[in-house]
Amino acid sequence: MAICNRLYFCGSQPIDSHSKVVFKEANNSKCARFTRWVKWGVQLPIVIPHMIYSIFMMMKHKELIAPLRANLLEGRFVHRVVLTPTKSQYVITSAKIANQMFKSYRNDQNGLFGFDEKGNVSLLFLSVLQDIVNEPVNLNDFLFTCDPAQVECFREPMLNFLGPKNMPSIRAKLDDVNQDMLGYLFGLEEYGRIQVSAKDLCGMYAVSVISYILLGKRASDFQEYRNISNAIHECMTYSVSKLWKKPEKEQTHKYNRKIEVLRGVIENSQGNFLDLLKNISEISEIQRKGIFFLLYIGGGETAASLLEFIFWQLGKRSDLQTRIVKEIETSNRSETLNKVVIEGLRLNSPTLISRTPNKDVEMTVNNKTGKSWKYTFNKGEDILYAPYFTTRNQSALKDYEEFNPDRRDLPKQIRSLPWLPFSLGKHGCPGKFLGLAEIKSMLSAILMNFEIVSGPQNLPKQKQILTLHLDSDVTLNLTRRT
Ligand code: HEM
Repeated sequence: MAICNRLYFCGSQPIDSHSKVVFKEANNSKCARFTRWVKWGVQLPIVIPHMIYSIFMMMKHKELIAPLRANLLEGRFVHRVVLTPTKSQYVITSAKIANQMFKSYRNDQNGLFGFDEKGNVSLLFLSVLQDIVNEPVNLNDFLFTCDPAQVECFREPMLNFLGPKNMPSIRAKLDDVNQDMLGYLFGLEEYGRIQVSAKDLCGMYAVSVISYILLGKRASDFQEYRNISNAIHECMTYSVSKLWKKPEKEQTHKYNRKIEVLRGVIENSQGNFLDLLKNISEISEIQRKGIFFLLYIGGGETAASLLEFIFWQLGKRSDLQTRIVKEIETSNRSETLNKVVIEGLRLNSPTLISRTPNKDVEMTVNNKTGKSWKYTFNKGEDILYAPYFTTRNQSALKDYEEFNPDRRDLPKQIRSLPWLPFSLGKHGCPGKFLGLAEIKSMLSAILMNFEIVSGPQNLPKQKQILTLHLDSDVTLNLTRRT
């Protein structure tokens, strides 16, 4: 299907290090609209088979990575995936284009980006929030979908609380979480060995960090976090699958039970972060609950998915484990661990990031050394940026599918990863510092106590519903270090 993308846009799409990307409202004169309709008519014979193929791929794989991948062309940076004859989705594989797009607010009715009224991912979140608070909510109640006037009032306290200045106190709390997790693991030990599911362990860990550090709840038994982790996963899976198929009664009962779990933790939150939010008069109670829900969504499966992937990789590389342990023993920090996390983020950036134009938008790429080109995105059609695909650009890296933290061309600084795994700009991840700190903290805690062997040997399938995760469980066999 990549061939269709060659036919939709026949020219090449070069982007060099000096290129400038500009987004502006597309020319909407009668003549321009007529030209677009003619183009649509000419392309229709390609569009129909392309659409059938895309739908077939989605039904076959029941995920997004493989179908999207089938649309990508090397050396191209905008790829079209046809969903219906009149509606497409675009996949962008250039961080330069994404960077420019991220300068806009997600929901600026006067700007270029806003929301598609139907099927937008934010509306999925909204329906779950509505069930959690048990009363009607609208887009303004949920700050994830915020317009420019609301963005800063929700992001500023979050960025302060989770920023570098607060890291010493956050690191101390991460030590508490590690103690709880290690206590749980030691309890599973039989003859010095433990076998755990990486998904289960990392899911509980990521949720424990949000629960304890942001919602002020430290569970007396580490396994209590499993309930919350499962509840988030089940609720979001239910909401996504509801788009395709009417849920059965039993599924709805199960969903309602999980909603109660989430309602319980969110309503009983306490602590410094809650106090901080309560002091901001512009934030209503529903919005506050929406923020907590969003923190679980934003900080739960993302961090867990990355941890799971890194554990799986480390479990096959005892040499890396030995290096990390030696470095930490000698200097209390590990350069190898840093590289492992960067390489993990390169191969397994866990999210697809989307924006929806609320008018027809024209993008121009001006290259200093070569040809300039334009692309028009239609109103209401999602533009996805996928760091996962950007880092698999074959021309950029040798052996790009291989997990190799020692590759020379890897960036050294975790804060400036060029493929933007945390996005940036108006909605860049506010949990970036916490996420990186918790990932390193959990990996160190486990590696200093255990040797890891992981299975399966071959890459488990990578699946995407909202967050990329490994399909078929990764098992960690842990042996206590002597
Ligand atoms: C490895 C870990 C993580 C990765 C890769 C990651 C990545 C991302 C990405 C790509 C976005 C989308 C930004 C956009 O739409 O432009 C995002 C948003 C967000 N993340 Fe993270 N994240 C991680 C961990 C966390 C953690 C631990 C938290 C919890 C504090 C968190 C909280 C959020 C929130 C609240 C948003 C929404 C921001 C907004 O809409 O303004 N994330 N994250």
